[in-house]
Amino acid sequence: MHCLTLIQPDDWHLHLRDGAALATVVSASARCFARAIIMPNLKPPITTVAEALAYRQRIIASIPLTSSFNPLMTLYLTENTTVSEIKTAKESEYLTAVKYYPAGATTHSEYGVTDLRQVWSVLEAMQTYDLPLLIHGEVTATSIDVFDREKMFIEYVLDPLIENFPALRIVLEHITTQEAVEYVSAMSSARLAATITAHHLLMNRNDLLAGGIHPHHYCLPLLKRETHRQALLKAATSGHPKFFLGTDSAPHARVAKESPCGCAGIYTAPAALEFYAEAFEQVHALDKLEAFASFHGADFYGLPRNNKTITLIKRPWQMPNEFEFGEQRVVPMRAGTNIHWQLAQTL
Ligand code: NCD
Ligand code: ZN
Repeated sequence: MHCLTLIQPDDWHLHLRDGAALATVVSASARCFARAIIMPNLKPPITTVAEALAYRQRIIASIPLTSSFNPLMTLYLTENTTVSEIKTAKESEYLTAVKYYPAGATTHSEYGVTDLRQVWSVLEAMQTYDLPLLIHGEVTATSIDVFDREKMFIEYVLDPLIENFPALRIVLEHITTQEAVEYVSAMSSARLAATITAHHLLMNRNDLLAGGIHPHHYCLPLLKRETHRQALLKAATSGHPKFFLGTDSAPHARVAKESPCGCAGIYTAPAALEFYAEAFEQVHALDKLEAFASFHGADFYGLPRNNKTITLIKRPWQMPNEFEFGEQRVVPMRAGTNIHWQLAQTL
């Protein structure tokens, strides 16, 4: 039997939703991760510290009593965010970062930023208070091909942002391209990092579009061609501290995915770490999983590494076809198929 024991990992990019849906998805993350950075793209979005702390309480109320899962909160950056809210966020133990959605880029991003000049003073305050900016890195112009939106964002938005705010700490979230890997790797300073999802490590755009449209593989940024997946695998398994785990597990009801205009988001939480293990094993790099999953993110955020360990066992199990999702159902990644790795029940 093949076992792998590692320091307990954290998920540095997670969507938990709210209400009845929250209660049905949170344990999938709490079973495995010690901490998670919770995305603020609720409807309406989490734009104040008070709202973030109230949301945190609802998350805590939904986790099993035995779990010590620690949700770390984020603010949704809008053109109305104030400098004083940034200061309040910095003073709160549970506010970890601010999330920047270009308006129109993804699920519930309509309150996002249309032009960075509108939030300049807020970015200055974040730089002063050393509050990290988490970026959904895609341009939104309808004229730009959807497969090129991350690459264009790096050139036209991220690079100038980095020039103008030399001390602002930034995470380019869920990177999907070789260009993003190269850009992040090339930056000598530790102020820029990137998260990588399990689904972008395991799938390419054929999994979305070949042999029919696969709505449960539709996420943003989109899955890209195989060369990009290979670049992501190389980055994730490089041991480079700038790359760390962020699942972007993003559940949507089955009916919202299997629809004429389906929502973006893949629900990976029920086997997130197991999927990463599978991806690392593909390139014979299981020895690099612990640093990627459990060290680099904590180090970037200046938080202590976890103490407990967890164990993965190479033992197949079957992913259910669907899970409860509030009043509805949600289809996980690899629904109804065999998952290669299993988490030992030690937590
Ligand atoms: C996310 C969601 O559903 O909230 N969807 C996704 O495809 N990743 C939003 C996001 O992170 O882009
Ligand atoms: Zn996300």
